[in-house]
Amino acid sequence: MTLVHPPLVASMIEGVETEGPTVTSTNPARRGEVVAEVRLGGAEVLVAAARVGRAAQRGWADVPAPVRGTVIGNFGRLVEDNAAALARLVTREVGKPLAEARGEVQEIVDTCRFFLGEGRRLYGETVPSEMPDKQLFTFREPVGVMMVITAGNFPVAVPSWYLVPALLCGNAVVWKPAEYAAACARALTELAWHAGLPAGVLSMVPAAGEVTADGLRRALAAGVVDKVGFTGSTAVGRQIGELCGRYLQTPCLELGGKNPMVVTPDADIDLAVEGALFGGFGTAGQRCTSLGTLIVHESVYGGFRRRFAAAVENAPVGDPTRDVLYGPLLDARFAAGYERHLELIGDHHSTFGSTAVGRISVGAPRRGFLGDPADGLYYHPVVVDGLLPDDDLFREETFGPIVGLTTYRTLDEAIELANLPGYGLSSAIYTNDPATVFRFRRGVSAGMVSVNNSTSGAEAHLPFGGNGRSGNGSRQSGRWVLDQVTRWQSVNWDYSGRLQKAQMDTAIPEADLGFRLDH
Ligand code: UN1
Repeated sequence: MTLVHPPLVASMIEGVETEGPTVTSTNPARRGEVVAEVRLGGAEVLVAAARVGRAAQRGWADVPAPVRGTVIGNFGRLVEDNAAALARLVTREVGKPLAEARGEVQEIVDTCRFFLGEGRRLYGETVPSEMPDKQLFTFREPVGVMMVITAGNFPVAVPSWYLVPALLCGNAVVWKPAEYAAACARALTELAWHAGLPAGVLSMVPAAGEVTADGLRRALAAGVVDKVGFTGSTAVGRQIGELCGRYLQTPCLELGGKNPMVVTPDADIDLAVEGALFGGFGTAGQRCTSLGTLIVHESVYGGFRRRFAAAVENAPVGDPTRDVLYGPLLDARFAAGYERHLELIGDHHSTFGSTAVGRISVGAPRRGFLGDPADGLYYHPVVVDGLLPDDDLFREETFGPIVGLTTYRTLDEAIELANLPGYGLSSAIYTNDPATVFRFRRGVSAGMVSVNNSTSGAEAHLPFGGNGRSGNGSRQSGRWVLDQVTRWQSVNWDYSGRLQKAQMDTAIPEADLGFRLDH
């Protein structure tokens, strides 16, 4: 028998060796299996990485944008050619079903393809001047060094939403991934390094939460971080926003969601059931876009509830390497947090969707479970019916395989319920009436609206982001993220050979504004 030692994942900073405590990253579907030993970086390692980035960034920004685009294109090709291995690693480290992991890897490829082309655009504008012999221009300039802090529910795709545009635009990046997804982070960083990025432009530092806050504080104080990108909880997002504000920086914040789905009287009910199943329980409900609460018109509630119950009861749950709707929760910390949310189920609620509520075990089995539940962090799907607007379950993000259900009478009431929790990331409505679509779109506070589609599953080139408790209005993806990773510089060039003062020396032909037609 050969003993295979799990790989050591340490900080990846060009030219810097690091020491530090190690933790293990385990497979949440087979908890005995160590995926990697992870050497955590301290606050000083994050600062060192930012300094390395600072030193490398100008040279990278001097590389012509189309050439940087080619590097990004090569990164995409490498990801594509390593897609199967990367997807397997995502499944092993965070328990996402293989089909979803493949989709996640594809999302990186799509992002690279989009930004490969952006390297040949990255347009500025020529703008007319109010003076003769003078021309105005705009240029996009990189912000500098960006610290990117990401969660592990999308351990490679969501980081790529920051890394790819930031690098394409000539920034340096220090990436702090989730510790429990560090092996995925190493794999993605290796692929990026092999694509031809110059040394120092991209570093990866696995670090604990409190240490990251300290490192960020020190890096901001030292002036070696110019922009922060953060995907994670609303509570941490608030802290990051406060901290960055002291340095007059606006971070790109992509926070939680309590995403509503409205099912109207004219909806295709089977389609809505399918969308609710995927939105609620895909990725075990651990997407920021996961369905939070179903808001169903009272006239179709009975039929919807019956069909949704059957769909949830029969959904395959279990080993993520098999054909399942969802596998285990991400790791033990998330499982513990989810269990606290389960305690919010009250006496006035009724639950359905499985044979029990909580952890799937020998004593509380799930019908049709695929695999051995004792191996992993598996939880029953649960739908909580009878949610009331004052319930914590109605107002708080739950991050697990749980969906709330409530009813409404008028569209205005549905919109009010949809907005009540104060998040504003994703939302969905099932209807075949265009007027209902547009009234909902206008009334809902969410940054993203799906019509006859699930709350999750956004395409990689449309603005992604939220409002209220879901973020500070920043948007990722497509050309819209360029405003996060660049700053506008405006240039005016006077070639008249004299000082022409704007507003004062502007020659405007005289008008006879008292003139009226006498017809
Ligand atoms: C997240 O959960 O942080 O739209 C991102 C979706 C995915 C991305 C989710 N494409 O559900």
